[in-house]
Amino acid sequence: MEQLLEQIENYKKEIGNYAATDPQSAENFRIKYLGSKGIIKNLMGEMKNIPGEKKKEFGQMMNDLKAFAETKYESIKEAVNVHQQSSGDQIDLSLPGDPLTPGSRHPITLMRNRIVSIFQRLGFSIADGPEIEDDWHNFTALNISENHPARDMQDTFYIQHQLEGHTDWLLRTHTSNVQIRVMEKNRQSGQGNLPIRIVCPGRVYRNETISARSHCFFHQVEGLYVDEHVSFADLKQTLYFFAQEMYGKDIKPRFRPSYFPFTEPSAEMDITCFICGGKGCRICKQTGWVEILGCGMVHPKVLENCGIDSNKYTGFAFGMGIERPAMLLYGVNDIRLFSENDVRFLKQFTSMA
Ligand code: DAH
Repeated sequence: MEQLLEQIENYKKEIGNYAATDPQSAENFRIKYLGSKGIIKNLMGEMKNIPGEKKKEFGQMMNDLKAFAETKYESIKEAVNVHQQSSGDQIDLSLPGDPLTPGSRHPITLMRNRIVSIFQRLGFSIADGPEIEDDWHNFTALNISENHPARDMQDTFYIQHQLEGHTDWLLRTHTSNVQIRVMEKNRQSGQGNLPIRIVCPGRVYRNETISARSHCFFHQVEGLYVDEHVSFADLKQTLYFFAQEMYGKDIKPRFRPSYFPFTEPSAEMDITCFICGGKGCRICKQTGWVEILGCGMVHPKVLENCGIDSNKYTGFAFGMGIERPAMLLYGVNDIRLFSENDVRFLKQFTSMA
């Protein structure tokens, strides 16, 4: 009994001196003294060995010890709390908040907007047309004869369904279909809408093997200007202005004769390489020139196909891809990245307007 009382006194001292400021040592204290296998529970077990007349005294001492340990435990918890709040362990108000990742425009959208806004400043407006198109608007009206290679099964995705009573549906292979639709609409409104000055951005489809450089769908911007007395000089000046706005004031233009069924004469426009300034580099394949678009004077047959008097009116048209300048100006080396929607790729364009 004497020994036990001495032990209790020692525990009391130990408990009194216990110092803790962190949650773990507070928990250690609870387990050691107050836990179900702790010291106090253990000592209580000694009751059965205490002679009857001493049981009361022992019980009293044990109750005191337990109450003492419980009070100490409360004050330890308090100390831990105060410590944590003052050292800011629990809520650190100075930590930065959870980041909100802002969305970003797709690089193709950025490039489209850039191209279109230059023409908008020149008085062109935006026109839209269907991606599922019929043979007339995609080919025939554009003077693309029945056996022209562009109609080849290898290039065009044909649609087998019968829609609106006929079966010659396809996925448009270029945005030139919008030219036809806008000019036709003009006829319906009695030529009241001339001059026409439009740019038509949109998606086009071709049956090509997908690789780093080509895809079975991509984007183009088509342009059309029809009025009285529109000349090739207007075409050159408009497209030269566009190229300078787009690629920098220092570039020089070059128009090479070319062939498109829907324009006569036709040309391809090159500019001095905006990467090397015309000296020759990998991008321009050492030629100093990069091709940026196809263009020409609208073929009289195309105007007539849409009911526009080709003796009175002339026009110019042009068409350019969006992916290629986007790849060159943003340094993208694989066209497939544009359609895979990998956020690691897309978020690199966050800061661009
Ligand atoms: N439609 C042509 C293509 O997809 C691009 C084009 C060239 C459009 C000349 C035009 C043009 O309007 O005049 O390759």
